[in-house]
Amino acid sequence: MKTLTEVVDADTIARRVASLGAAITADYEGRDPVLLGILKGAVPFLADLSRSLPAEVEIDFLSLTRFGEEGRVSISVDSATSITGRHVIVVEDIVDTGLTLSYLHGLLETREPASLATATLIDKSTRRIVGVDLQYRGFEVGDEFLLGYGLDWNGRYRNLRSLWAVMDLAAFQDDPESLSRQVFAAETPIGS
Ligand code: IMP
Repeated sequence: MKTLTEVVDADTIARRVASLGAAITADYEGRDPVLLGILKGAVPFLADLSRSLPAEVEIDFLSLTRFGEEGRVSISVDSATSITGRHVIVVEDIVDTGLTLSYLHGLLETREPASLATATLIDKSTRRIVGVDLQYRGFEVGDEFLLGYGLDWNGRYRNLRSLWAVMDLAAFQDDPESLSRQVFAAETPIGS
């Protein structure tokens, strides 16, 4: 069995992100939204998505600390932007059980935004424990562990330009270095 396989290539990601950007642009016409990216995983997605939006869009980030099996979160680094009365679009890399996002929505609602929506690159809907509203979804996937385009394993691989699925987690954990060589070998170097 192959340990890793590319599941969404960089061109497909780019096309999908641009189409989400077009949908958001149309839906938010005249509403001046603020994008709130969840560090660190949302960084590549937010960077690309924001460049498909009108130039006036505001961008901010916050960082979460997760604790407990039930997915409780607190905000460890808060955004500098006041969201009271603003149209907020939370930008996430992946929604899995939904626990993180549902806690985050609860926290953000206390700040009384004019509206709160979520854009996620990946939706692992079959693993959902708590229902969450996702207005913009890039790709729906199964329950495989994914890496790349913001998604990490022990803080690594976020910088890959495509999405990879780990098919054999044990083999991957035994030898992550050789696998990173495999991934980079398969990617087209910048400028070529
Ligand atoms: P949730 O609270 O279960 O929805 O988990 C969301 C968080 O779990 C994401 O923001 C990721 O940090 C992490 N996560 C879930 N699935 C994956 C994956 O396939 N690869 C990398 N991180 C993942």
